Amino acid sequence: MRPVLKLTSCLCLLTVCCSLTLPVLGEEKSRWEHKKNYEKMIVEPTLPVATDVPDRILLSWKQDPARSFSVTWRSKAGADAVAEIAPAETGPQFVKQARLIPGETSPLKTNLGTVHMHAATFEDLKPNTLYVYRVGSRRTVPLSKADQEDVEPLTAEYAWSEWIQYRTAQESEGDVVAPVSFVYVGDAQNDVKSHWSRLIRESYRDAPRMTFMLHAGDLVNHGNHDQEWGEWFYAGSGIFSAIPQLAVPGNHEYARDPFAEKPEGEESLPKTLSRRWGQRFEFPDNGPKGSTENIFYVDVQGVRIIGLDSNREIEAQTEWLKKVLSNNPNRWTILTHHHPIYSSSVKRDNPELRKTWQRLYEKYHVDLVLQGHDHSYGRTGPISLQLSRQLETEENVATGLRVADQSGGPVYVVSVSGPKMYELKQYPAEAIQTDPFRRRTQGKQLYQVITVEQDRLVYQAKTVTGKLYDQFTITKDKAGKNVFEDQAPPVEE
Ligand SMILES: [Fe+2]
Repeated sequence: MRPVLKLTSCLCLLTVCCSLTLPVLGEEKSRWEHKKNYEKMIVEPTLPVATDVPDRILLSWKQDPARSFSVTWRSKAGADAVAEIAPAETGPQFVKQARLIPGETSPLKTNLGTVHMHAATFEDLKPNTLYVYRVGSRRTVPLSKADQEDVEPLTAEYAWSEWIQYRTAQESEGDVVAPVSFVYVGDAQNDVKSHWSRLIRESYRDAPRMTFMLHAGDLVNHGNHDQEWGEWFYAGSGIFSAIPQLAVPGNHEYARDPFAEKPEGEESLPKTLSRRWGQRFEFPDNGPKGSTENIFYVDVQGVRIIGLDSNREIEAQTEWLKKVLSNNPNRWTILTHHHPIYSSSVKRDNPELRKTWQRLYEKYHVDLVLQGHDHSYGRTGPISLQLSRQLETEENVATGLRVADQSGGPVYVVSVSGPKMYELKQYPAEAIQTDPFRRRTQGKQLYQVITVEQDRLVYQAKTVTGKLYDQFTITKDKAGKNVFEDQAPPVEE
């Protein structure tokens, strides 16, 4: 090639590159800005398509986690569904031991057509034992004659999931309990497939042997939009069917049900808890009368996990909460609800929760309160109301909180796992002693790994990239008194 031609070629190439690069860079910016408006995000329309083959399989606990577990799944057809379970073996021969149980089926009308939800509970299991299970839904599209003759009758009748492994929880031996570890996440809510997938998968890579996962509400943005649940299950595929999931509803799980009948005398449909919630999650039926998997407690390996619904009927849950807290044989108590006792973001205060529930948390020595809703991160030390002088104000209780640390009280956390971010509430410099949070940040997607041993609780918050952002340890002495140690690493907030 002659030099002139070479130069001309280079210029041409440069021009082409610029014309390709500059608009793309410009587009990136506007695309990001557009994402601020999450309400208008478009979700994948193919994710909701249901077939005969079980999908959206979710494992949870309805009964004693050492002796039972429950599964829900979905298929298109409304015919019967079944599940099978066997103790795991080192090869495929375990199938000979498989026990078949019936599932329960209920229809679910969605904005994308009617599907069917199925649920099954495996009972009479042995503690700390590895099982394999699978779920099946009756075929509505029959196999070809040749295939039917070629497979066992159960496969001819039912479309099955893969075999999935799960180890039951351990039972306490006297006062000795096995360690529990779990991942807790705040709101996933928006762009769940696009932006939350990497977070939930990173958390799984980080703690693959976790005992369970906990979601503190606003799992999706529109509780009745089926495609958003499709994104949630896509993000957690292979995880939600193998690790028990616990969750409490956020305000976004409450929505107007387009298929509900308008109550007499009402001008419009009221917002109600998405019907999917009760069909999807199988939590213990031990909440106040009328609750539907939105209020419950689970005891696992010396830890009582209590889930409350902070969206409504706060007072009505208080009597139940008192009973559950006062009659608690577990060494550790962890509580979760969506709206925070102390808000980390601007103009999102919830004084009613402090006035009703917080006193009980302290009276009955709750160790940790895990929350969401604020789309930022805030973590307190142990906080006691006793030393606060501003209990009845409309603002966050603040004065004297740092002083109160040593008097005990729960540690409160607000966290966010999805991409929607809110501005952090700023405290004036002179009020540094009144800021309830010891660690707080905005603009970061976070997950938390919490390990609870006999006498020690270790809490870690990690960024979506797997980097340690926050840490503390609570040590419980023989009398049950907590000693708190802040171990937050020196990183930029
Ligand atoms: Fe929320």
